Amino acid sequence: MKPKVLVTRKIYERPLQLLREKAEVTLNPEDRSMTPAEIMAALPGKMGVLAMGSDPWTAQLLEAGKDLKIVANNAVGFNNIDLNAATRLKIAATNTPDVLTDTTADLTFALILGVARRIAEADRFVRAGKWTGWTPNLMIGRDVHGKTLGIIGLGRIGSAVARRGQGFNMRVVYYDIRRLDPAVEQQHQLQFMPLRDLLEVSDFVTLHVPLTLETKHLIGAEELGLMKKTAYLINASRGPVVDEQALVEALRSGKIAGAGLDVFEAEPKVTPELLRMENTVLVPHIGSATDETREAMALRAVNNILAVIRGEIPPNILNPEIYQK
Ligand code: DGY
Repeated sequence: MKPKVLVTRKIYERPLQLLREKAEVTLNPEDRSMTPAEIMAALPGKMGVLAMGSDPWTAQLLEAGKDLKIVANNAVGFNNIDLNAATRLKIAATNTPDVLTDTTADLTFALILGVARRIAEADRFVRAGKWTGWTPNLMIGRDVHGKTLGIIGLGRIGSAVARRGQGFNMRVVYYDIRRLDPAVEQQHQLQFMPLRDLLEVSDFVTLHVPLTLETKHLIGAEELGLMKKTAYLINASRGPVVDEQALVEALRSGKIAGAGLDVFEAEPKVTPELLRMENTVLVPHIGSATDETREAMALRAVNNILAVIRGEIPPNILNPEIYQK
């Protein structure tokens, strides 16, 4: 008998097929997230779950999975999983690193260019039939090339954004809780700065930290107040890293020039004032949303489940301590 696996939302066909070869799959038939109650009802007998980053894997839900051996998140972020509870219950938790790094960095750069060059606003303008011809002062934005790019969180995605910035001839400064070796900094032309200094000097501040207790509201009124009036805030990490109300206030009062946001504090809700502002570019959490990458992510998640089925440690394990004797 094949082990039973729950897939909480439709994924690409090829990874699903691979999973079906080794497991009896229960797939959410609807194109929407399963509610926690629906997940709970589907959990009995399931050894694995291929979960979405939007599923809240609370201790209560994990405890309900009496036969659960793995929750394979179809995302690199894993703030939706109570990792302590998973570890206590000896449930492997996994994510999908690497395969979405460049795709998310591309989207970050699209936000940088989009907000500085007013792409979404200009598009709305043309579509509204407001364009009457070339004028010297129409949709004037700000240059990206040659400016200072401040990266908060120099992990995989932050580093990929740094490389793009260098391609645009930008000066790249970064802040991270772990500083690189100075020789590596020099080799990659990266300059470390304390957070406050980075906020003060950057023309674009871009966030690439995981959401943890420490990074919640890392950027609030005080931090926004340190930024240049001409600077832009970019967030393609997790919404709660920014105090959205403080951001609205900073944008409204002209403390900063604009924001490019892929993520929001209470997704899918967006603070209504943000929707009315022309100096924001807002996209619906699509950092990794390309055909190639979404398939690769699902493959990673499936491979993690298949490893557990084979009795192996999954390659993208987040809580390896569960395997310690
Ligand atoms: C991730 O992988 O964490 C993304 O935010 C979901 O696409």
